[in-house]
Amino acid sequence: MSTGTVDLESLRHHGDVEAEPGLLDFAVNVQGSGPPEWLRDRLAAGLSTLGSYPSAASELKARETVAQRHGRRPEEVLLLSGGAEGFAMLPRLGSRSAALIHPSFTEPELALREAGVPVTQVILEPPFELRAAQVPESADLVVLGNPTNPTSVLHPKADVLELRRPGRILVVDEAFGDAIPGEAESIAGVESADVLVLRSLTKTWAL
Ligand SMILES: Cc1ncc(COP(=O)(O)O)c(C=O)c1O
Repeated sequence: MSTGTVDLESLRHHGDVEAEPGLLDFAVNVQGSGPPEWLRDRLAAGLSTLGSYPSAASELKARETVAQRHGRRPEEVLLLSGGAEGFAMLPRLGSRSAALIHPSFTEPELALREAGVPVTQVILEPPFELRAAQVPESADLVVLGNPTNPTSVLHPKADVLELRRPGRILVVDEAFGDAIPGEAESIAGVESADVLVLRSLTKTWAL
């Protein structure tokens, strides 16, 4: 566990910049070099409507589609410009003591630290089992990735939900969730006001 000073530049570092020719990029893990053909076609067909704002009806339709995918209600869904926008919004949760589970993607921690939120790094040792996580009881916000970038560890759903406490918000970055067949360990379907799940279109859909 670490509460000490952290170099913000190290949190800003994205491993993909190290993926030189001949190396495989396991930092960003985009599937393929772009969206599949059918998706490109639909996006291209939508270009002619770019001159107008999306209607409330089309926004609702998008939320309904996402809600249906995860067995949730449309009012529980918020459309964002990627998980990245969700990370940038984390300081708005008003946390006074956040715990970030590591090794992990560092953007959520960067957003919280830049906003002056006190952060504790909870560092898991190999094999990175969540059960062993020493999360301070005082943490009113816990953030983790599942499955986890960069370890690729998929934590059992029960272990993730075990982190819930009264007065605490649990945020799970499931950017790679749709890479897991059946998504059995996803908590996107869990209806609870203290649980927030971020999903992404940039990995599986290369979008
Ligand atoms: C673990 C993880 N979460 C979130 C993101 C960002 O998600 P998005 O591209 O939807 O902003 C990334 C991008 O690399 C990631 O690796």
